[in-house]
Amino acid sequence: MREPIIAANWKMYKTVGEAVNFVRGFTGLVAGVTGVEMALCPPFTALAAVAEQLAGTNIALGAQNMYWADEGAFTGEIAPGMLKEIGCRYVILGHSERRQYFGETDETVNKKVHAALKYGLKPIVCVGERLEERESGTTESVVRSQVEGSLAGLTVEQAAGLVVAYEPVWAIGTGRTASAEDAQQVNAFIRGLLRDMFGDAAAEAVRIQYGGSVKPGNTARLMAQPDIDGALVGGAGLQADSFAEIVKNSL
Ligand code: G3H
Repeated sequence: MREPIIAANWKMYKTVGEAVNFVRGFTGLVAGVTGVEMALCPPFTALAAVAEQLAGTNIALGAQNMYWADEGAFTGEIAPGMLKEIGCRYVILGHSERRQYFGETDETVNKKVHAALKYGLKPIVCVGERLEERESGTTESVVRSQVEGSLAGLTVEQAAGLVVAYEPVWAIGTGRTASAEDAQQVNAFIRGLLRDMFGDAAAEAVRIQYGGSVKPGNTARLMAQPDIDGALVGGAGLQADSFAEIVKNSL
């Protein structure tokens, strides 16, 4: 049985003060919740404060990006060891906004995945097609090359600990969620790719999230699908009450 993981990706939202307020409210709302892993992924500037607030809770901390070098003259970048030291368990890699606005490719995502694993961080690797790719019927080939490229060279053991997030770009921040059936179809396709790359046991262990306009009202239907093991939540993860509802509706 895979334990679902519901993660809030706050993107470039929330000051330190706003982040702390969120956590204070959220921890009360989900106190006693078990059977689902929860993670908060604030911007870099709020990681330390959120880590402090999460101490002693069962809510994990994640970052939204990192560079792949151990350290060095890379102005403006953050190294994996820095995220580990501050208390991150997860790091989101290859989000479509990073691919679209910051030139990330499957090759750079792959370097980051290897670097994250080297430092004991668990990557949440994002893949997903754009609207024109879905409409032209190339969803599977796009997702295939993202999965194969981003996860190249991993061992079976490393692969088994991954989280993959399927996020169709056309569903992100648009209010247009993929139907549960469409999301399940792509998630099952991704699991098949993982099976080909890493074998049955690893493929069965990987948690594959869905992301794209997840809300309290559509969570249960998405999470009922056999290959959807959680959600990567943007907008609805910015308010403690709606994110808590998503967590509870995933059970
Ligand atoms: O990482 C999260 C996704 O980009 C989904 O964002 O829930 O606002 O559509 P959204």
